[in-house]
Amino acid sequence: MNDKQLVAVHAAQKIESGMVVGLGTGSTANFFLAALADRMRDENLQITTVASSIVSHQKAKSLGLPLINLESSSHLDIYVDGADEVTDDMTLLKGRGYDLVREKLLARAADQFYVMIDPSKKVQRIGEKFPIPIEVMPFAWELVHKQLSDLGGKGNLRQTANGDGLVRTAYGSLVLDMAFPADVSSADLNTQLNNIPGIIEQGVFHQLATHILLADSGVVDEQTSNS
Ligand code: A5P
Repeated sequence: MNDKQLVAVHAAQKIESGMVVGLGTGSTANFFLAALADRMRDENLQITTVASSIVSHQKAKSLGLPLINLESSSHLDIYVDGADEVTDDMTLLKGRGYDLVREKLLARAADQFYVMIDPSKKVQRIGEKFPIPIEVMPFAWELVHKQLSDLGGKGNLRQTANGDGLVRTAYGSLVLDMAFPADVSSADLNTQLNNIPGIIEQGVFHQLATHILLADSGVVDEQTSNS
């Protein structure tokens, strides 16, 4: 079992009968979905799940996990997902996929938000390895881009893999991938991005994770927020 599988199996042990569970997106989250489906079958676990993306909805459906739509959800007991970057203060970078809004809605709605990572995801500052995805209203992207440039941001609209079109989210928005100066703290960056009109959602997840599960060489370490 590799570290991604190990941390996913560990996270699946956190789920109890009766819980409403938010399902993440990505390769680690896929291992979690499979481990959860195994527990449901083997232990007759009674749960309800809500997916953070169309892709994870389809995956959950194929595994027989009982799904409800986001539209019918007002509260989650637990949300379990991966991340692209994680700092020591448990700030995350997410949204390499295209469903940032759903991911942040689930993170905010859940009592507990478990994030599953391996050491490659640990960083000193958000934006160290990846640009920050910023989902924008299509008609506002140039105005938003100007505001981000004024903050020292550099980057552009995300293009499709073959470079002949622009990526659209599941809801038709555009995505700006932006790098910011290293001396801006994650907390300040989060506040600045949240204050720009035209941005629908952005990839900094500040003070949302309650637990970080880090798998390293066969051992899972658990970090818990103080709040
Ligand atoms: C999806 O939009 C992201 O936030 C993922 O959670 C993140 O990319 C982690 O993916 P992996 O588990 O595949 O590294």
